Amino acid sequence: MIATYQALSQARVDRALEPLFKAPAAELDRIYAAMRYSVMNGGKRVRPLLAYAACEAMGGIPEHANGAACAVELIHAYSLVHDDLPAMDDDDLRRGQPTTHKAFDEACAILAGDGLQSLAFSALTDPQLNVRDAQIRLQMVETLARAAGPAGMVGGQAIDLGSVGLKLDQAALENMHRHKTGALIEASVRLGALASGHADSERLAALQVYARAVGLAFQVQDDILDVESDTATLGKRQGADIARDKPTYPALLGLDAAKAYALELRDQALEALRPFDAAAEPLRALAQYIVERRN
Ligand code: IPE
Ligand code: IPE
Ligand code: MG
Ligand code: MG
Ligand code: MG
Repeated sequence: MIATYQALSQARVDRALEPLFKAPAAELDRIYAAMRYSVMNGGKRVRPLLAYAACEAMGGIPEHANGAACAVELIHAYSLVHDDLPAMDDDDLRRGQPTTHKAFDEACAILAGDGLQSLAFSALTDPQLNVRDAQIRLQMVETLARAAGPAGMVGGQAIDLGSVGLKLDQAALENMHRHKTGALIEASVRLGALASGHADSERLAALQVYARAVGLAFQVQDDILDVESDTATLGKRQGADIARDKPTYPALLGLDAAKAYALELRDQALEALRPFDAAAEPLRALAQYIVERRN
C-alpha cells in the first residue's frame, strides 16, 4: 500500500517541481542546473508524502497540497546540499550521485541551496499550487519559516556541528534531532493539513503529536541505518557518523535500544491518529514505513 502511495505522491510532487527549474535566461543555466540536480535526483520524498497524507487525513484533496509538498522538499534539498559541504559533513555521495559541490563547485552549491530556499517560499505563495484562501497561505509561510530557520532546522544543524566529539545525554540528543529533522517533518504534516482547507484546531493538535513522534523516529532510524546499512542501499556513505564521531542514538543507547526506541515512537504516532478515520491510513502506513525503511 505504502509503495503505491509513495509512487503516486512522488510522481505528483515531481510534476509540480519540474517547471521550477527552467532557467529564465542563458546566463542562469548553471545555477538552475545545480538546483535541478539537487532536487530531481530520486529522493524518497518522505516530506511531500507526509504533506499529501495529512491533507487527505483532514478530508482534503491531495492536489491542494502541491505547494506544501514542493516547499518542504525544496527546503529539505537545500538542507542536504549545505549539510554535505566540506564546512559541514563533508560528504561526496548523496542519493547515489556526487554531492552538488562535487558535481558543480562549492560556491555554486551554496548558491543552489540559497536559491532552493527562496523557491520553497515562492511555492507556498503561488495560488496555482495552493488553496485559494490567502489567510491560510500566510499561516503556511509562517509555519515553514519557523521550521526551517534558527528555531528549527538551522538551529538543529548548529547544535549538530557544535556537538561533534561531545558526549550528549539523551535529552540533549533528542533536542538536536527534534530541531534538525523533526521540525521540518512536523511542518510537512501541518502544511498539508492546512492546505486541505478543512483544518480544525483539535485535529491539528492530534496531527502535531503524530508528527513529533514520526519526526524523531525518522532521525533515530537515519542514525541506525548509518550503522547497519550499506553505502549502495543508502545512496550516501555508510558509517559517516561513526567516522566523524557524531552524537547519535545508537552511539548513546546501543543499536538494540535505539531500535526499540524507534518502535516506541511509531506506537506513539499511531496512538495519536486514533481519532481519525480511514482517510488517515496513508499517515498510519508512513509511521510504519519510517521505522522499517532500509534507505
Ligand atoms: C536524510 O533525509 C537527512 C535527514 C534529515 C535524516 P532523507 O532520508 O529523507 O533523504 P532523501 O530525501 O530520501 O535523500
Ligand atoms: C541532516 O542530518 C539533517 C539535515 C540536513 C537538516 P544528517 O547529517 O544525519 O543527514 P545525512 O545522514 O547526511 O543524510
Ligand atoms: Mg549533518
Ligand atoms: Mg550529513
Ligand atoms: Mg545521518
